[in-house]
Amino acid sequence: MNAAFCGVLFKVTNMKNYQELLSENKAWAEETFKKIDGKLSVVTKRLSNVIAGDGNKENGKRGQIPAWAWTSGFWGGLNWLLYDYTKNEDYRITAENNVKLLDEGLKEYEKLHHDVGFMWHLCAGAAYRLTGDENSKVRNLFAAASLSSRFVLGGEYIRAWNGTWDGNEVSDWTIIDCLMNLPLLYWASDVIGDDRFKRIAMAHADTALATHLRDDGSIVHIVEHDRETGECVATYAGQGSAVGSSWSRGQAWALYGFVISYLHTNEVRYLDAAKQVANYFIANCCDDWLPRVDFRAPSTPVYYDTTAGACAACGMIELAKILPEHEGGMYMHAALNMLKAMEEKFCNFDSEIDYILDGGTMRYPVKDQFTERQAGVHTPIIYGDFFYTEAILKLLGSEFNPW
Ligand code: GLY
Repeated sequence: MNAAFCGVLFKVTNMKNYQELLSENKAWAEETFKKIDGKLSVVTKRLSNVIAGDGNKENGKRGQIPAWAWTSGFWGGLNWLLYDYTKNEDYRITAENNVKLLDEGLKEYEKLHHDVGFMWHLCAGAAYRLTGDENSKVRNLFAAASLSSRFVLGGEYIRAWNGTWDGNEVSDWTIIDCLMNLPLLYWASDVIGDDRFKRIAMAHADTALATHLRDDGSIVHIVEHDRETGECVATYAGQGSAVGSSWSRGQAWALYGFVISYLHTNEVRYLDAAKQVANYFIANCCDDWLPRVDFRAPSTPVYYDTTAGACAACGMIELAKILPEHEGGMYMHAALNMLKAMEEKFCNFDSEIDYILDGGTMRYPVKDQFTERQAGVHTPIIYGDFFYTEAILKLLGSEFNPW
């Protein structure tokens, strides 16, 4: 079925509003959370003293990752989400161990990049917000200072990486993923009572609006900017299938990222951008509700990315809460369909296996450049579990938003 037609069909079949959908699916969400908690309350004891990373399907285990890896905050962050909702001390112990393990990363200045928001805000930031730990507040402020130091005056963007990427020099590159690092800056401004961090976050979000968001609601993964004006001088395929493509996790980073910027600023342009990206995302979800890795790649072979679905579902649930009930129902309907499809096809609740959500994909396996294995096709990715759990907790009414 043609993707745009799927979107239209979905719209005419959804007659329920946000609250109706929420109560109709309450039992499913409760049951799913019971399975998540039943499993992770066992796994957390096994992985209490490590920074756990992605899963390995050959042995069912999660690898350990260094503090400077961009995904190092997710395991601690996931444990904070679970601790906040259940008050199970085992989750708190793992989360606090991870906060300390991440300190090594703050010592490796040259390895730090724009992803310090993913890393510290989810872990140390949550520690401060949930327990009032002053050392964690300082950790998170150092991370915010590091992120702000990447801001390029003139062009008004936060530089993504250091050195080179896929052989290219990257000093004026931004990637859409960075929107998810901005909550660190919004938090820093709130906590010190000075809007200078927030202004950097908004300047970057505005540059992303002008350069990463296409008119049709699709997103450019990587933009190279003119250093003085911020204008786009080139775009790159990044983790998508080709230049001009539409990498679904990039869509999800933009969707949830703009929602979060709206929640922190009340600026309607961010809400409008999030809706535009969400509408495009929904129109491109086919009848199985499992996002493909790239919405503009050939239809076959079929490569899924559940991390895109889980992150987009979080953004859509937030949209549903913000918008009037009929309009919100559309996003709630899509989020629930995606979460249920993922549960059916890709969730594993066996506590002997470290991970829950399979079917994540690191990048599109561009022919003659990456094998499916090198591209990490259909694999359990740590942030898949994070966003999946976050989405279920949102359905259950959890008030802690880690972003
Ligand atoms: N931020 C890198 C990724 O989404 O894979």
